[in-house]
Formats: sequence, structure tokens, C-alpha cells
Amino acid sequence: MPHSNTVHVCQSCGEVHAKWAGRCHACGSWNTLQEESGASAPLGSNARISNRTGPRSGLELVDMGGAAEDSRRFKTGLDELDRVVGGGLAPGSAALVGGDPGIGKSTLLLQMAARLAQAGAKAVYVSGEEATDQVQRRARRLGLADAPVALAAETSLEVILSGLKKENPDIAIIDSIQTLWSDQLAAAPGTVAQVRACAQELVRFAKRRNTIIVLVGHVTKEGQIAGPRVVEHMVDAVLYFEGERNHQFRILRAVKNRFGPTDEIGVFEMADCGLQEVANPSALFLDGRGEASSGTAVFAGMEGTRPILIEIQALVAAAAFGTPRRAVVGWDSSRLAMVLAVLEARCSVGLGGRDVYLNVAGGLKINEPAADLAVAAALMSSFMDTPLPAEGIAFGEISLSGDVRPVGRPEARLKEAAKLGFTCALAPAGVESASVRVDKVTTVQNLVHRLGQDAPPRRSI
Ligand code: TYD
Ligand code: MG
Repeated sequence: MPHSNTVHVCQSCGEVHAKWAGRCHACGSWNTLQEESGASAPLGSNARISNRTGPRSGLELVDMGGAAEDSRRFKTGLDELDRVVGGGLAPGSAALVGGDPGIGKSTLLLQMAARLAQAGAKAVYVSGEEATDQVQRRARRLGLADAPVALAAETSLEVILSGLKKENPDIAIIDSIQTLWSDQLAAAPGTVAQVRACAQELVRFAKRRNTIIVLVGHVTKEGQIAGPRVVEHMVDAVLYFEGERNHQFRILRAVKNRFGPTDEIGVFEMADCGLQEVANPSALFLDGRGEASSGTAVFAGMEGTRPILIEIQALVAAAAFGTPRRAVVGWDSSRLAMVLAVLEARCSVGLGGRDVYLNVAGGLKINEPAADLAVAAALMSSFMDTPLPAEGIAFGEISLSGDVRPVGRPEARLKEAAKLGFTCALAPAGVESASVRVDKVTTVQNLVHRLGQDAPPRRSI
């Protein structure tokens, strides 16, 4: 019996199934399998292992030490971007920049290409979404019209690859991977088979030619780079560009990086003349903070190696309906439930029957447990309608027993607070500072007491 030449590919994770099924056995998604031609295997040559020096007959061995890598990195001149990629882009690396449509990916990468070109690198920007005159118009508006970046509007992978071979650039930006198609495949552009095959060829090109390839990928509603998560495995770095559309801040975050750390963020502000770097994000995130009011606390957080001060806002209100509402923006809702439960159990505070709203100002997302104390302080401040000192910050992790635990890098957090004019801090035991008065908080009872209550309130729910 002849073998069928069709396979079923999951459009969510890229898993290939021999037979159709309602549910992908790899990622568990329903109705994501699509019939595709079996020719979705690697394109072109059979060489599956990247080859930096052209065709070869045997295994090519080199010293592990190699050249001093940092001296060969391409610095973009945008410090916020260079920090996120680990001190500049490494030659021969492939990166994926993901983000919601309209968040500013094309703007960021055009600015990056222009900076590199102005510094003498050969940069090519291939747009599959916009015509070249649209990109030129944008470049003019950004004041980058005289940067020697080569532009092209093209979606055919074969045309792009042959053009890149001829040009031999130091860096090529492909905007976006979802618009590319290869004539070797029957599948439509944007399908997982096309995206995977195109990305694979471009990554192979990056390794073989020692060119930096930056792929743009649009993110779906669920927060995944549309279609193939497989692309994430192929590239050396995955960067997400995120932010709220109605806030001007944009945050570049590395979620994977073979050449640097993954916990650094770069902060930008979307202005009329493009993306501006924000060297001092704390000042930006605290901008517009008025008089001290109940329910707000300033958290001294760390994003990678950098301290950032962020305002946490809480509102504890009488529940309008039977079941109290809990709404959280910018923090983990289960972590909020834990802090509420600890306050309730250890301090006998009647929060259980009340609506609780928590918001991290500026559209930022906090992942650190070190924010627990600032969250608890904001919640209690709202509950007791007692403002916290306007010149104070807080940090510390709360355990289930109600103890406040030490967190990493306290001195960096306090230094940033002092720099921005804060004079006191609620912090766990063991934290000392010459510039800021440290009010030690060792338990949540301690915190409630400090907020002006001599006896913990005993309210019925
Ligand atoms: P864009 O880079 O096209 O987003 P993406 O490539 O992620 O889809 O950014 C588009 C948005 O940025 C658009 O809403 C307009 C805004 N913008 C500015 O506010 N200022 C500018 O200088 C530019 C170029 C864009
Ligand atoms: Mg775009």
C-alpha cells in the first residue's frame, strides 16, 4: 500500500500526527490539527547541523576558548536593549521578538537597525507587512531617514535568502515570520509548517553566514507566539515586547537567552518620535503620585540587576454581592489570596467578606514574592483607612506563619529608594542602611500594629 503523503500538524505546538485527532496529544489543545503535505520536512539541503564554514566533509573541531566573545558583540547603542540581550547581539545568533500587534516591535527594530547601521554595521530590514515607502515614511518620522539601512518588502523565503546571500549583511531583521512562505511547501503562509520551515532556514543561514537574524513574531490572545512554539526552541534568544496600549511604557523582557541573563528588562516610552529609552524607570513609574492616600504602598523591587520602585494600590471595600470579588492587575492572584489568608488567620482581620482590588501602577507585572509586605501594607492601609508615610517604601516576603522573611539585594533596593528621596522603609530584620531609616517588620502582626492599631480588630465577616 502506498504511504499517504499527508500529515496532521498541531497549529499550536507544531507536533506532527500521522492521523487526525480532535485533540493534540502533545499540548492538549482541541481542534488545532490541520492537514498538511508531508513535505513539511527540512527544506533545501539535507545538512541538519549548522555549518559555519560552508560544505565540509568531516567533523570540524575548534578550541572551546575561541575568540573573546564580548569584543565581537554588536552593541546597538540602546542601553535598554543591549542589557536585555546580554551586552549586545552576538554574531551568528538568531532572536525572536514577540509581542502584541501594534505594541511597537517594528518601531523598536527599525530604530535598532538604524543605530547599528550608523555605527558601521551592514543592516537589512525585510518587511513582509509594509511596503518600503511605508517603512521609509516611518524612518523619516523617527528622524532616521539618513541611516544606511537596506530595506526590502518581500515575503518569499527563497527570494529573501538569495538576497541575503548576495548582500551578506551583519544583521537582518525579518518582520514578521508569520508573513513568510516557502514555495517548497504546499501549506499556506502563517501555518505552523510554513513558519517552522522558514524559521529553520533563516536560523541555519544565521549560523552558516555568521549573520544576526532577528525574527518578529506576533503573539496570540493567549500570550503564545502565534502558532509554533517550535520557533522558540530554534532561536538563541526569545524577547517579549510588552506593555499596556493605553500606557506609554513598553517593557522588553528576555524569556530565553543563550548568550546572557533572562531576568533583565529594558524599559522604553512610546513617544511621538518613536521609542525613547527610560534610564530611570522608578521615576517614571512613580510619576504623578500625589499626596499620601490610604491603600497605596511603594514597593522596592528588583528586575534583574536593576532596582525599580513601583506603586502598589489596594482597595478593600464592602462586598456588593454575596460572594466577595477579588481582582488583581499586575500580580499573582493566588499570592494575593495567600497574603489575605495570612492576614486573616494571624491578625484576625476581617478581610474575608470584603471585595479586594489590587493594582500595580504603570502596567508593570511583578513576579517577586518580595512584594508581599508592600501588598499587605497597601491592603491594611486601605482596610484601616490609614495612609502609609508618603516617604516610605516596603519589601519583604511573608510566610504562611505570618513571619516576614529577608529577600535578596536589600542594599540595592534601599539605595534606589534613597536616590528618589524616600527616607524610611518597612523591611525584614537584618536590613541596615545609612541613608534610609529602616523600620523592621518581623511579622504581619507587627505591620498591623505599626499601622496604628494597638489591638488587632476583631470584626465579624
Ligand atoms: P509598530 O512598531 O508598528 O507595532 P508592531 O510592529 O508591534 O505591530 O507600532 C505601532 C504603534 O506605535 C502605533 O499604534 C503607533 C505607535 N507609534 C508612536 O506612538 N510613535 C511613533 O513614533 C511610532 C513610529 C509609532
Ligand atoms: Mg509591525
